[in-house]
Amino acid sequence: MTANSPRVMVELIKVSKTYPPSVHALQDVSLSVRSGEMLFLTGKSGAGKTTLLRLLCRSEVPDKGLVEVAGQDLERISGSGLQQLRRRIGMAYQDFRLLPRHTVAQNIALAMEVAYRKPSFIRKRTRELLERLRLSDKYHTPAGELSRGEQQRIAIARALANRPDLVLADEPTGNLDRETSTLVMELFREHEEQGATLIIATHDRELFDDGGHRVVELRDGRLLAPEDGEDTGSGDASLQSEEADQ
Ligand SMILES: Nc1ncnc2c1ncn2[C@@H]1O[C@H](COP(=O)(O)OP(=O)(O)OP(=O)(O)O)[C@@H](O)[C@H]1O
Ligand SMILES: [Mg+2]
Repeated sequence: MTANSPRVMVELIKVSKTYPPSVHALQDVSLSVRSGEMLFLTGKSGAGKTTLLRLLCRSEVPDKGLVEVAGQDLERISGSGLQQLRRRIGMAYQDFRLLPRHTVAQNIALAMEVAYRKPSFIRKRTRELLERLRLSDKYHTPAGELSRGEQQRIAIARALANRPDLVLADEPTGNLDRETSTLVMELFREHEEQGATLIIATHDRELFDDGGHRVVELRDGRLLAPEDGEDTGSGDASLQSEEADQ
């Protein structure tokens, strides 16, 4: 985390998003995520998790409310400001969005090339991530030839490649077995320790059942867990430990 990073990485205030004709994907959602926090966003299918993540990288805009990322109001941000901000965000999409004809290494490298990383750095980081995710043997394989679980891990590698300040992971273990999910979570925790903020949308309770991190739940577009740390049920312990940090 850089010295000029804000204390709060993500701020949503009374955000609503309706898709036509009248799907209330998010309603009056307020949420604040500290810099360096790992937050789990849970809720049933259709609850609005992906919509919330999409608002944070401005692939969607809200109908109402304020969305701030790294202290910048996404409604007012300039085109170049948004470009710069997006370089600080790594998004692992629920549907992966890999380039199927490009190799695994090329898919991961793209994220770093747009950030003007040196080729030697790109090769080293790509190999490191593939090794950590046990996919070293797929370096030259076209992404379209991978299994879904393998593609998912490549999408995660691509999201982490630049060591972004903000990682948005949408159902990152949806296609993975327990052992492989653990590898992914270890990588996420390492990025958290190095100061990244991570928001992980997931149905997989095992990812957060250890109680070490705050969990917030969306239900029909509304956020259930209170933000103020009082009486939160499952997120309780983590909120108290966070308050102790501050
Ligand atoms: N582009 C869109 N156009 C119309 N409706 C949409 C669009 N994207 C999402 N929705 C609707 O908004 C609601 C929230 O969808 P969202 O994808 O955010 O849910 P989710 O919590 O991510 O679900 P899942 O766990 O299945 O991924 C759903 O009812 C969905 O059908
Ligand atoms: Mg989703």
